Amino acid sequence: MELNAHFKQTLTKLHDAVNRQLQAALVKKEPVSLYEPMRYTLFAGGKRLRPILLLLTTQAVGGNYRDALNAAVAVELLHNFTLIHDDVMDQDDTRRGQPTVHKKWDVDVAILSGDGLVALSYEYLLKTRYPAIDQLGQLFSRALLEVCEGQALDKDFESKTNVTPAEYFKMIQKKTAALLALCCELGAHIGGADAETIASLREFGLNLGMAFQIQDDLLDIISEEKQLGKTWGSDIKRKKKTLLLIQAKKLAGAANMAQIDAILNKESISTADVTRMKKIFEDTGAVEYSRKLLARHFRRARDCFKPISSESGKALLTNLLETVVIRTN
Ligand code: IPE
Ligand code: IPE
Ligand code: MG
Ligand code: MG
Ligand code: MG
Repeated sequence: MELNAHFKQTLTKLHDAVNRQLQAALVKKEPVSLYEPMRYTLFAGGKRLRPILLLLTTQAVGGNYRDALNAAVAVELLHNFTLIHDDVMDQDDTRRGQPTVHKKWDVDVAILSGDGLVALSYEYLLKTRYPAIDQLGQLFSRALLEVCEGQALDKDFESKTNVTPAEYFKMIQKKTAALLALCCELGAHIGGADAETIASLREFGLNLGMAFQIQDDLLDIISEEKQLGKTWGSDIKRKKKTLLLIQAKKLAGAANMAQIDAILNKESISTADVTRMKKIFEDTGAVEYSRKLLARHFRRARDCFKPISSESGKALLTNLLETVVIRTN
């Protein structure tokens, strides 16, 4: 897939605009133990997918992306909160190619800097000039609660052996897709879209989000740690019930099944175990199956564009959807 020049230019423009606003949002320096880890996380990189999705949605429905910049900053701040707390929960050492906050500092700092980002995210959302700002506040709170629900399910599943594909899809819809759907909803509202268009774009965001998390689960073992910027094989080490594991268990013969059980019964899973599990995921066809489901959500997302009349808006959102599938980190 080749990304076209206009898309690349737009991406750079929006990426820079978001980063400038984020810099302005984080000028406060003291207490250092609160603000330094917040800045450390935000400016370590990050694809800025969520704010860019929000801004492109505003444009696609005929709005001006500048009107949506505060909301874009709000979703990125909220996302960074989820990352800091997620790394504590997943016991991960690396994020965006550098030590996670609880590793560089400690868990207390991770809890508090995450909380600080939530507070700041509401402050930015409420700066948005929109007649029914309370409605946007409700959507924002609902999505945040859904992320928490999804993260709770993700954690519960670590110690559950028989998670079904339906349970997995519900979990990723909440922990990941809910936030991407929110970005589309907020962007569409701020751009002045009608109810039907808002609903379609929300559906687009949900499907993009599902594809995004399936790809994230694939990258956990397919990507190189250096490129990924996160701990390689973390999901296997934490006994996460990804689609890969669920499907591998369904397709495995006796020998592979015995190996899967042996690995999952270990108290501590080694890197050699991760390599073995990766091979099982490949040999059983679980990787291929995950790719198929990813493609299905990609198609479903693309089918949500019917009410959007702007051809250039549709093209940019399709390009963004493509980046989700070809990404390596
Ligand atoms: C990681 O999100 C968390 C998931 C929902 C999988 P991203 O892959 O968008 O993380 P950054 O912001 O680019 O680092
Ligand atoms: C992320 O799921 C969901 C969040 C709400 C952050 P993961 O735990 O798979 O995300 P990464 O792989 O650590 O970024
Ligand atoms: Mg994680
Ligand atoms: Mg997690
Ligand atoms: Mg992951």
